[in-house]
Amino acid sequence: MSTTTRKGAAQRHCNTHLARTMRSLSTDTVEDRSSALFPVGAGSLHSPATSSVEGLRMAQDFAHIPVLLDEVTALFSPVPAGVVVDVTLGGAGHAAALVASRSDLGLLGIDRDPAALEVARLRLAEFGDRAVVHQGRFSEIRDIVSDSMEGRSPWPVIPGISGPAPVVGILADLGVSSPQLDWSERGFSFSKNGPLDMRMDPTHGETASEFLESVDLEDLTEILRENGEGRYARRIARALLAAVPLTTTDEVVAVVDSAVPRGDRRRGHVASRVFQALRIAVNSENIELETLLDSVLDLLAPGGRVAVISYHSGEDALVKHTLRRWAEGDCTCPPAMPCVCGSVSLGTLVGRRSVRASESECERNPRARSARLRCFEANR
Ligand SMILES: C[S@@+](CC[C@H](N)C(=O)[O-])C[C@H]1O[C@@H](n2cnc3c(N)ncnc32)[C@H](O)[C@@H]1O
Repeated sequence: MSTTTRKGAAQRHCNTHLARTMRSLSTDTVEDRSSALFPVGAGSLHSPATSSVEGLRMAQDFAHIPVLLDEVTALFSPVPAGVVVDVTLGGAGHAAALVASRSDLGLLGIDRDPAALEVARLRLAEFGDRAVVHQGRFSEIRDIVSDSMEGRSPWPVIPGISGPAPVVGILADLGVSSPQLDWSERGFSFSKNGPLDMRMDPTHGETASEFLESVDLEDLTEILRENGEGRYARRIARALLAAVPLTTTDEVVAVVDSAVPRGDRRRGHVASRVFQALRIAVNSENIELETLLDSVLDLLAPGGRVAVISYHSGEDALVKHTLRRWAEGDCTCPPAMPCVCGSVSLGTLVGRRSVRASESECERNPRARSARLRCFEANR
């Protein structure tokens, strides 16, 4: 299996305050301590420059519970032979199941987190050249795919297909993984003290600590309001800015506690939403998803499918409306009337409703409870 590291484009990060204050995609889910996507063993944080021995230990330490695994595999079972791009590779739970399910599928896995890639690379090694991993942001998917298809970086090799195989699937399993929350050194968790970082790619970009030093009161209030904490957004924003520099997660929790009236100060409740809002801002998650959705249809071969798992109502609403718009071809005719506006459908919704996890899956993996899976099949 090949590994590539994206340089130029990966270093153009779009963490502008404008991007951070755009309409929220994610407002109702907070840090889920029961998350079990990657239950961590005894190991601690592994730096991005992990050695292969450490990497092996990471992979062995991690039990892995990908959400809606059977449902995702089933959704990709009718696609033509070709490459599935998993843009949120994580520990490669979905990715490994997909390549194992069909010998005529290859896999390009993308993740911005070098530590996740380290685990994924080991898990996918058994598939040889059929699986390729790539560090980068999924908003860069067009460049990543074209670089690979044009030979500037590796593209999965599928036995029996000569030349670059077409893209027949795109999977996005949004949000953070459990190790990102569990490793205190990453600074994502309000319940574990660590450096105030929160970057999914800890090798570049502004940390949450630096972000708090550069943002102004209006923007921070808006970010908290739109991405997590509505009620006390302004008072918390004011308290945070009065307290900078803030360098640890415990300091943020203490400031948030001090800004919230005693009666509403249930330990962790408000802090978890503030952490979620900061994480979304630091990683430009809203603009990442919008850019991804703007890019994917141009990449898919006819009959190819895109599937997205979201964990927040805001994200799911964007996915739902985008897929519906593709299916309706931006039709402007009244719903009860035949279409006369000349719009052309780009494909078909696969199922009218989102797919939800079964009760038994939710019992095994509580993180699955908020998951919603939506899928679209391209017709051209
Ligand atoms: C929920 S986990 C995915 C787990 C994966 N499906 C599995 O089975 O192991 C989400 C992953 O997406 C990555 N991620 C989130 N936003 C990203 C982005 N904009 N670009 C690339 N990777 C991203 C995170 O670093 C994390 O590893």
